[in-house]
Amino acid sequence: MVLSPADKTNVQAVWNKIGRLDTYGWEALDRMFMSFPTTKTYFAHFDLSPGSAQIQQQGKKVADALALAAANMDDLPGALSSLSDLHAHKLRVDPVNFKPFLSPQLLTHSLLVSLATNYPEEFNPAVHASLDKFLASVSTVLTSKYR
Ligand code: HEM
Repeated sequence: MVLSPADKTNVQAVWNKIGRLDTYGWEALDRMFMSFPTTKTYFAHFDLSPGSAQIQQQGKKVADALALAAANMDDLPGALSSLSDLHAHKLRVDPVNFKPFLSPQLLTHSLLVSLATNYPEEFNPAVHASLDKFLASVSTVLTSKYR
């Protein structure tokens, strides 16, 4: 997935606007757990009731990671290297199909919906397309070290 200069401008504009706000991060996790319940198996040690303190804390971590990614779009593999190691370890195998599990796409879908509902004015079709490409690129990096 190649991000064009226009994509990078669109993504940066959104992150300049939302700054370090993290509401969309935990809302996206709530959406992911509700819409794709198998993802809950990875967070069995969490309190998964909607908006729990642990989900909010995790949402902030996800939002911080995406802010870092948005600031380093020319080197996503480098910026997300340790996160990629962590997800390769945590998400190695789909517990149902015993195949590499591309579940970060489930979170990226939820993130898009959450960004759209929180920032409707910014979320025009061109920004939607650029965010989709950006999140797909992040997902590719996070799943690149599956064994
Ligand atoms: C855009 C996609 C994603 C991003 C940006 C992301 C980001 C993060 C971050 C920043 C952390 C915390 C790392 C740390 O504490 O050092 C984390 C941990 C984790 N992530 Fe993800 N993640 C994504 C997708 C997913 C998905 C889809 C799943 C599983 C359904 C998942 C499962 C986990 C698990 C199990 C942990 C460890 C949680 C804990 O025990 O504290 N991640 N992720």
